Amino acid sequence: MRIFTVCLPKYVTPVLSRWSVWDAVFLCLVLCLARADDDCPVSCVCARESGTVTCRDGEDSGDLLVDLPQWTSNLIVQGKNMSTLRRAAFTDNSTDLDITTLCLSYNGIQTIEPYAFLGLPSLHLLDLSHNRLESISTRAFFGLSQLRSLYLNYSVLPEAVMQLSIALSSQTLSNLHRLDLAGNRLKHIPLQRLDSFDLHVLVLVNNSFESITKENVSDLYQQRHMRLYLSLNPFRCNCDLEAFYYWLKNASQCPDVGRLECAEPESKRGALVEQLRAEDVDCNLENLEAVSYVFLGLVMALIGVVFLMVLYLNRGGIKKWLNNIREACRDQMEIYHYRYEQDSDPRLANVAV
Ligand SMILES: *[C@@H]1O[C@H](CO)[C@@H](O)[C@H](O)[C@H]1NC(C)=O
Ligand SMILES: *[C@@H]1O[C@H](CO)[C@@H](O)[C@H](O)[C@H]1NC(C)=O
Ligand SMILES: *[C@@H]1O[C@H](CO)[C@@H](O)[C@H](O)[C@H]1NC(C)=O
Ligand SMILES: *[C@@H]1O[C@H](CO)[C@@H](O)[C@H](O)[C@H]1NC(C)=O
Ligand SMILES: *[C@@H]1O[C@H](CO)[C@@H](O)[C@H](O)[C@H]1NC(C)=O
Ligand SMILES: *[C@@H]1O[C@H](CO)[C@@H](O)[C@H](O)[C@H]1NC(C)=O
Repeated sequence: MRIFTVCLPKYVTPVLSRWSVWDAVFLCLVLCLARADDDCPVSCVCARESGTVTCRDGEDSGDLLVDLPQWTSNLIVQGKNMSTLRRAAFTDNSTDLDITTLCLSYNGIQTIEPYAFLGLPSLHLLDLSHNRLESISTRAFFGLSQLRSLYLNYSVLPEAVMQLSIALSSQTLSNLHRLDLAGNRLKHIPLQRLDSFDLHVLVLVNNSFESITKENVSDLYQQRHMRLYLSLNPFRCNCDLEAFYYWLKNASQCPDVGRLECAEPESKRGALVEQLRAEDVDCNLENLEAVSYVFLGLVMALIGVVFLMVLYLNRGGIKKWLNNIREACRDQMEIYHYRYEQDSDPRLANVAV
């Protein structure tokens, strides 16, 4: 196309006078469009009508994507070996792009450097799922004030969880509606506060949550419009679950509540959290039971001690009593013996007679 553009004037100019101005305008438009198509980055597919640029597979240094057409509104990059998202990875930092959707799943991204998304002030949706994030800069999400959906499912390695928490909290993601953190082996909600966002959906499916802490539950009660997805987590169904259990029952903020299962203790494995009885999660009851056993033990011990003391104090009397018994026995024996001897004598006499 570029060759065409260059060659065109040479033979067009002589005939131009015969053409109307409108023909010229039309030709120019066609040429402009053709020129724009030319902007499609190498190894990408561009669909101008939908504003979509799709770049799949192949090696990529990451710098290649800086030359995006101005009309791009959806950018899909997949299967590239990107490893690091550098500062202003998608723009040179002088020009803003009007991109609203950026999908970067399955790119093996490990590091997000500061200001990586600079120049994308209109970004609504950022999909970073299925990467291997191990380093996330505190300023990684800088400038994404319009961001509504952030997908980080199956992407965050354990060493980056703390960094993610800081990065999310220190940026003004005040419009964030949906945060997907499924499949990241999380044990805690990696957000310091919930009220700094406008979250409507928080997906924590398929992580390592054993419970939701009391502090977090009271935070959740404050965010009435928020929905929290929690299935496929290994809940530990003892009395630590109490606050969470009542939140599940009372707040109706967990749409997949019917699929939350206990993983522990052994006796409750596979049981639905929703169907636990209040006694199962009642710490007072559990404590009461323990207390009552201790109390019973103490009472028994006390009785034992009293018994031993009575024995000890009465040792004189007991000795006397034992002696008495012994003497009584002896007397009895003697009487018996005596009788026996008396009885036997006449018989012997009879025999002798
Ligand atoms: C990705 O790139 C890194 C270096 O940039 C290289 O070591 C690695 O082998 C590449 N991986 C794949 C799957 O191409
Ligand atoms: C882009 O950012 C770098 C790093 O801060 C800076 O040195 C450079 O001048 C900036 N370029 C433009 C065109 O603003
Ligand atoms: C990741 O999250 C997004 C948004 O919730 C979803 O559309 C996508 O299917 C998820 N991917 C997987 C593999 O669950
Ligand atoms: C849960 O996540 C693990 C990896 O963290 C994955 O292997 C497994 O397939 C996921 N399970 C479901 C049901 O998505
Ligand atoms: C959740 O609770 C932990 C302490 O248990 C706290 O550090 C964290 O900030 C809380 N997060 C939210 C979102 O309430
Ligand atoms: C939740 O409901 C239970 C009983 O249904 C009640 O005892 C408890 O106080 C409620 N908790 C809150 C915080 O509303």
